[in-house]
Amino acid sequence: MYAHITGWGKALPERRLTNADLEKMVKTADEWIVSRTGIRERRIVADCDTTDSLGAAAASKALARAGVQAEDVDMVIAASCTPEALFPSIGNRIQERLGLGNAAALDLNQACAGFIHGLAVAQGFVASRQYQTILVVGSEVLTRHVDWTDRSTCVLFGDAAGAVVVQASRDPGGPLAIDLGSDGTGGDLLMLPTEGKLYMNGREVYRFAVTAMTSSLKAAVEKAEITLDHIDLLIPHQANIRIIHSAAQTLGLPLEKVFTNVEKYGNTSAASIPVALCEAIEAGRVKPGDTVAMVAFGAGLAWGATIVRWTSPV
Ligand code: UT7
Repeated sequence: MYAHITGWGKALPERRLTNADLEKMVKTADEWIVSRTGIRERRIVADCDTTDSLGAAAASKALARAGVQAEDVDMVIAASCTPEALFPSIGNRIQERLGLGNAAALDLNQACAGFIHGLAVAQGFVASRQYQTILVVGSEVLTRHVDWTDRSTCVLFGDAAGAVVVQASRDPGGPLAIDLGSDGTGGDLLMLPTEGKLYMNGREVYRFAVTAMTSSLKAAVEKAEITLDHIDLLIPHQANIRIIHSAAQTLGLPLEKVFTNVEKYGNTSAASIPVALCEAIEAGRVKPGDTVAMVAFGAGLAWGATIVRWTSPV
């Protein structure tokens, strides 16, 4: 069985925090943020919203797009590193919010690489014929966990959710290969303690990021038995435009084949790839038959890449 992506949706808080706003909060400058990261603004979750309300909003759009009824969802996988509570799970909350009466639920925390991990789990359940229809949601409210006095991190992150519906089919399509990896020895480089604020060693994470992106994407390409020039579009984790450009250059991928929206949202962790996927589709950059690569890296350390044969009409 193949796991086709048949629906997609995103939810972005309305409130924008621009670099000019940040200049009033910490000792920073728009010029520094844009030149070092590519970020111009990010979204901030409304007080009444939560990781699961954002996730449910994105998931609901993905279900509508796929034409899937709530009762037909077999499982919801929520990828997030910013739950409101340790339990109940975000997956359970989304299951309740959307009335997914027949769905099992699980949460998965691989930080920024969470969505790719979620997609891998969904594909496994579909391939083993356990489930037919799975929602994979990436949802984050990182701005509730950053230290707003730490200029080295508070300028980087934003809130968002993105979701896809994965459906079983005998026809080839969906993820052709997935590469996942972890290196717990780098765990201290990027941390969010249960009591406390986000901490990051930016330089070290930067170095890791470029290497992880290139090696994981190459591994996925090899597993899929294609070559890099078969990739029609790369949707990388949106953390820093310099990381993306550096990885693309190392891989020899022209920038026209790389989708970016980091300037609008900053780093939204597990939501970054599904939101970017939605926007790449809206921009007409994905069409049936395309080979779409996705690659992510983040806290853990963890990383993942997939090569997807796109099949759904857009
Ligand atoms: O999903 C994974 C999450 N994380 C990442 O992907 C982040 C990876 N790392 C990065 O993106 C980059 O390392 C950063 C954007 C975080 C930092 O860029 P950098 O070019 O590595 O800068 P740096 O940390 O080496 O800092 C250079 C200077 C320092 O000043 P001194 O010590 O040279 O005087 C910092 O204090 O820039 C200073 N700085 C700032 N200046 C103005 C750090 N943050 C800011 C700021 N505004 N917001």
